[in-house]
Amino acid sequence: MAIAAVILLFGLAHAAEPTASGEFSSSDFTESDRCKECHAITTVQWEGTMHSNAYVDPFYLKEFHAASEDTDGLVDSFCSRCHTPIGVVAGEIPPADGSQLSEIAKEGVNCDFCHTVSGSDGTGNAPFIVTPGDTKWGPFNDSEASFHESEYLELYTQSEYCGMCHEVRHPVNGLLIDDTYPVWKNSTYSQEDVTCQDCHMTPGITEFEANPGRAGSGAPKRDHISLHSIVGGNAFVTEMLGAEKEKEMAIERLEMAATLDMVSPEIANKGEDVTVEISITNSGAGHNIPTGVSEIRQMWLEVKATDAEGHEIYSAGTTDTSGEIISANTIYNNVLGDSEGNPTLSFWLADRVLSDNRIGPEETVAEEHMFSLPEDAVYPVTVDATLKYRSAPQDLIDHLFGEDVHEVPVIDMVEKSRIIYDPDTPPESRTQPQSESQSTPGFTVFATVAALLIIYVLKKQ
Ligand code: HEC
Ligand code: HEC
Ligand code: HEC
Ligand code: HEC
Ligand code: HEC
Repeated sequence: MAIAAVILLFGLAHAAEPTASGEFSSSDFTESDRCKECHAITTVQWEGTMHSNAYVDPFYLKEFHAASEDTDGLVDSFCSRCHTPIGVVAGEIPPADGSQLSEIAKEGVNCDFCHTVSGSDGTGNAPFIVTPGDTKWGPFNDSEASFHESEYLELYTQSEYCGMCHEVRHPVNGLLIDDTYPVWKNSTYSQEDVTCQDCHMTPGITEFEANPGRAGSGAPKRDHISLHSIVGGNAFVTEMLGAEKEKEMAIERLEMAATLDMVSPEIANKGEDVTVEISITNSGAGHNIPTGVSEIRQMWLEVKATDAEGHEIYSAGTTDTSGEIISANTIYNNVLGDSEGNPTLSFWLADRVLSDNRIGPEETVAEEHMFSLPEDAVYPVTVDATLKYRSAPQDLIDHLFGEDVHEVPVIDMVEKSRIIYDPDTPPESRTQPQSESQSTPGFTVFATVAALLIIYVLKKQ
């Protein structure tokens, strides 16, 4: 009796358990090239993305091998479960050197892995249940194909699907290392049901935008099919791998993530101290900026004041020839600490958060910059602020790959300028630069419509 009950309980518990390492063979999965025969557009969209490169990513591999060494192999299947999920469920990794990995496992997060996910035991640390075979699960409840069975699963339309992998907790001490899903979950985006898919799998970037089309050859026309060109802010590894289109898409996404505002005096006397306040708003991302491996990512403000002859009066947040950021007020990221409390970029060694100044969804933060106008400055003086982003500190990449091998691109997310005039300049001659293009169109249209309406109403009266 007791034994039967234990077996029964075990059986029940097992049914909801995440798929174990080595439960399947890589030959149970189908290569993406096969899907491409009918889902050509979708497959081309996926090919240059970090999902398709999740295992072969040279930056990942360097860090993975370092982590494996530091922990005597303890993290081998942990890291691999997200970066080569087929490699893990097929029992091909460990060994950490990848020598046993099949070609399909090297496809990283691929078509057949994602579409044979038949359930999940919550979010975080990849608790997926995968059932390779004839059935492909997806967002349609009326889909028919000759090559495979189709099955609807609501999970595909929900952020929880992405939350399986986009929430990383330290396997030993539980420290939350990647909080993308939990932060989204606590944001107004979640309350308003704006999902990861809405921003990352439609042309909308910061909101849902329908993409009508056919999901495969011979498939019916639908009001919306999703994009599989799922990109974030990674303009570095995409460049390294020659994925130019995805690099451009990452830059475009970064340009949509934030807005800047600057308050500075319109006039100032020479010798006077000038204070400039710049605020940054996370207006476009449903999570912190930066997010993901944000202890490695860097975002900061570059602020420069120059006089009419181009002489620099003030600068902060520029980079020197070795790529180091000079005197930025704040680096917007989080700093993790090891067991001795020392800052570390090796998150597998971290057990605490030392600081966190990422910008939350819809949050605004401000920076103050101060300088004095030199006696020989030539009016007018221009203050430029640019929000910068890069995927990794240059010295980390130099340390991993060697000096002068890879230059981490620095992306301008958004900029703003203000002009400071000679107090003798008549007020009507003091013009200010237009707002940055990114937030202008919507506002200009709104302002024009509002102005026309007012004129119309006034005329009628
Ligand atoms: C990271 C996981 C992931 C990967 C990799 C992935 N898909 Fe999808 N796919 C999804 C999700 C999630 C949806 C549903 C999105 C929605 O409805 O909002 C989807 C939707 C679909 C659909 C339904 C039609 C549509 O586009 O909405 C098809 C067909 C499809 N995927 C095929 C593929 C093929 C082929 C590949 C490989 C080139 C692939 N998928 C790779 C997660 C993935
Ligand atoms: C012989 C052509 C063909 C091949 C090969 C093929 N599919 Fe499909 N697939 C289709 C068609 C047609 C549809 C129907 C699309 C629709 O309903 O709009 C479809 C639908 C889907 C859907 C949507 C299922 C749902 O209910 O939401 C997914 C997911 C999918 N395919 C994944 C894959 C994957 C992964 C592969 C490769 C392992 C693959 N397909 C290979 C033709 C094919
Ligand atoms: C099986 C695990 C897994 C699932 C499920 C998954 N991802 Fe990912 N995703 C990854 C991994 C691993 C990477 C990073 C690969 C790398 O950079 O080496 C990644 C990368 C990304 C990136 C690129 C990040 C950057 O810095 O540019 C975005 C965006 C992204 N995923 C969004 C999504 C969305 C949206 C979903 C849900 C539809 C999803 N992912 C589902 C594992 C997953
Ligand atoms: C309201 C739109 C929106 C939603 C919702 C959203 N994202 Fe993003 N995401 C963005 C934008 C814009 C960026 C570029 C800014 C950045 O890199 O942080 C981005 C960047 C990313 C990155 C790269 C992070 C980095 O800083 O390098 C990842 C990974 C990512 N998103 C995953 C997700 C996942 C997973 C979800 C759901 C839990 C999600 N996103 C929900 C808009 C969104
Ligand atoms: C639960 C899933 C998961 C686990 C476990 C995981 N990762 Fe990741 N990893 C991700 C996701 C998702 C991203 C993309 C986030 C982003 O782009 O900011 C990522 C990104 C990375 C990146 C950045 C790659 C790039 O191209 O910029 C590195 C490096 C990395 N992971 C290393 C590791 C190592 C080493 C381990 C094990 C100690 C590990 N990861 C464990 C999901 C995971």
